[in-house]
Amino acid sequence: MRPHRFDSIQYDFSQLANQLTFDELMAQLPEILTRDLNDNLCVCNSIAKKRVIQAMYEGAGSMAQIREACMAGDGTGCCKLQLKHLLDAIQKIDKSNP
Ligand code: FES
Repeated sequence: MRPHRFDSIQYDFSQLANQLTFDELMAQLPEILTRDLNDNLCVCNSIAKKRVIQAMYEGAGSMAQIREACMAGDGTGCCKLQLKHLLDAIQKIDKSNP
């Protein structure tokens, strides 16, 4: 697969689950990012948005880690902009990420 410009994003979310519950994370995300949680964010692999956020909550802070955790982004890459928006939003919430 051709490298994608967002493949270089690498956040350390390893402490996220120690800081807050999944529900607390969801409550802090912008409303626009938490709409339609059960709809597929990654259409290529039928991965719901909620599953993707769960993977990030459990530590997936890069495209490679998300792919490994739940297969999102492992198709044509057409969902990577949405993945980037979620990664950036969670990075702002993660207090261990300066
Ligand atoms: S929708 Fe996720 S890789 Fe295509």
